[in-house]
Amino acid sequence: MNSYSIALIPGDGVGKDVTDAVWQVLSTVAKGAGFTLTGITFPWSCAFYKETGAMMPADGIETLRRFDAILLGAVGWPAEVPDAVSLHGLLLPIRKAFVQYANIRPHRLLPGVKSPLRAESFDILCVRENTEGEYSGAGGRVHQGTADEVAVETSIFTRAAVERILRFGFEQARQRRGKLASVTKSNAQKYSMVFWDEITRELAAEYQDVEVTSYHIDAMTARMVMAPESLDVIVASNLFGDILSDLGAAIQGGLGFAASANINPDRSAPSMFEPVHGSAPDIAHLGIANPIAAIWSGAMLLEHLREKAAARTVMDALEKTTAAGICTVPGKEKTQTITAAVLAALH
Ligand code: IPM
Ligand code: MN
Repeated sequence: MNSYSIALIPGDGVGKDVTDAVWQVLSTVAKGAGFTLTGITFPWSCAFYKETGAMMPADGIETLRRFDAILLGAVGWPAEVPDAVSLHGLLLPIRKAFVQYANIRPHRLLPGVKSPLRAESFDILCVRENTEGEYSGAGGRVHQGTADEVAVETSIFTRAAVERILRFGFEQARQRRGKLASVTKSNAQKYSMVFWDEITRELAAEYQDVEVTSYHIDAMTARMVMAPESLDVIVASNLFGDILSDLGAAIQGGLGFAASANINPDRSAPSMFEPVHGSAPDIAHLGIANPIAAIWSGAMLLEHLREKAAARTVMDALEKTTAAGICTVPGKEKTQTITAAVLAALH
């Protein structure tokens, strides 16, 4: 019997509620599918920071390394810990240390869920570079607090990282509908983004079966609203992919439906699965967070563990749940009511 160990990091705010929800679903599906999941929970969060002065212990990364996958709820409690501290202390180091270079985010409408757009059906996979680019963390500030203050933050684009994320995008397109949209802003950013476009063209020669189009980010935002059905796989840098995937979340009915996976495609370290919505301080403690994004991320976790049948079972249950009109109006049902409906739909 296959067995997997999963590190659970509920984190902050609604992260706790939705991690609990997805874990109920995954544990149940594992029983039926005949594999074991062992979860170990780590309390790393802003509360942990307040107690210890760090978001995770010094050996946190080494501790996580021995797990088969990581399930994360949300990180951030800006009223008490600045976001730049909490995120650079937990989420971003995990993505970088474990070379989870592909952040993938599916944007499609689950049955019964209404898009704010007229579009009734689209199926986009946003592939975001997840280790460098605009979020490389390279920079500094001088003359702080004076009129001469300067802040510099440098985007870093390396051939190795650009090539591997583009290759990942091409491979995904190959397994889907064969279309790749590569997004830059190479008309204005003449070094990094021109470099990205060049590597896109180089790889296109290797992937003749994939139809690749380069778009500028501004035009892509318009296309995602006006013609989302024309898109298949989108590949973009860290910042651009971040922004486009929130737009993708909005058109698929809201952040409560947006799942994500931080994938280490080489499997040299664990991958991490997390909903896109964040800790949502405004609704934390109310028990009304939508668990769909987290549960969908859980299905992506199973997919990554190559438990494909179980992943399908979870997606089918999610689709049955939303098709039955549960969870289609934000905040109407409790997290646990929705989770119970998904659990019931598993059988
Ligand atoms: C996301 C989040 C994070 C990111 C933030 C919280 C740093 O917005 O996962 O999309 O931009 O990577
Ligand atoms: Mn984001």
